[in-house]
Amino acid sequence: MELERLKMAVLLTVIIGGILHIQISDAQKQNRHIVGDSVDWTIPPDDNTYITWAASQKFAIGDTLVFNFESELHTVAEVTEAAYNECNSQNPISEWTKGPASVPLKSSGKHYYLCSVPGHCMAAQKLAINV
Ligand code: CU
Repeated sequence: MELERLKMAVLLTVIIGGILHIQISDAQKQNRHIVGDSVDWTIPPDDNTYITWAASQKFAIGDTLVFNFESELHTVAEVTEAAYNECNSQNPISEWTKGPASVPLKSSGKHYYLCSVPGHCMAAQKLAINV
């Protein structure tokens, strides 16, 4: 009888431990977001491509944006909101010229990215996200 109770206690401990473990690993999961999914980072097929994509994602600190592109053809520049609105890449906060680029999300709030190749941002190769 005692042995049965001990077995039950061990079993319950294992089950509860498993549930807790799953919850903790879920909370700590750091997601990689492939920007544009299959479109990758390029001049998009329509102006809403990256807006729609961003709305489909949930961004958290510790996550990574992955911009898939060929070096020389595109870049990734993190810029201010004003620069984003004007497609101005003169003074980026950061810039990545080698593709694919992995961009870690280190702070909460709005983040703005664009391609600094002339004409590309104007053709909607720009991304705004909220972390
Ligand atoms: Cu480009």
